[in-house]
Amino acid sequence: MGEMTGQVTEEMRERLMAEAERMRSRSYAPYSEFCVGAALLAADGTVFTGCNVENAAYSPANCAERTAFFKAVSEGVRQFSAIAIAGGAKGKPGGFCPPCGVCRQVMMEFCDPERFEIILKKKRGGLKGMRLSELLPFGFGPEHLDSGGK
Ligand code: THU
Repeated sequence: MGEMTGQVTEEMRERLMAEAERMRSRSYAPYSEFCVGAALLAADGTVFTGCNVENAAYSPANCAERTAFFKAVSEGVRQFSAIAIAGGAKGKPGGFCPPCGVCRQVMMEFCDPERFEIILKKKRGGLKGMRLSELLPFGFGPEHLDSGGK
């Protein structure tokens, strides 16, 4: 990966991606047959995993990333360092899967956009780490509410 020298070690990036890839087997995606797994690293070192969960009514589908975030937040954890994401057609190896806009917005709620790292698989192998601020520039966060949010 090289260019990213953040708070996450290369070994941890590999571990998170292995967890994300493993989680694809839990994906419930009978409609799209696109299976996504995610592994979210909390600041305290705990890893929360997630997969996409689809629905016959289509729009209630939940992405792997949000599944991982909501699992963590519902367990009382709100500080995060990084997330690894792997996605691809059912039965094939997971590949490059950038998070959707809704998931980026959920990350914005809980993460420092200059520090939080999104780890993706490169098309030709290897990992790519990006900051949330690169994927969601000028994002709207809790601090933009008059109330200050939270
Ligand atoms: N999906 C995710 O879970 N995460 C992403 O980053 C992209 C899309 C899911 C939503 C839906 O179940 C399927 O992949 C196809 O869009």
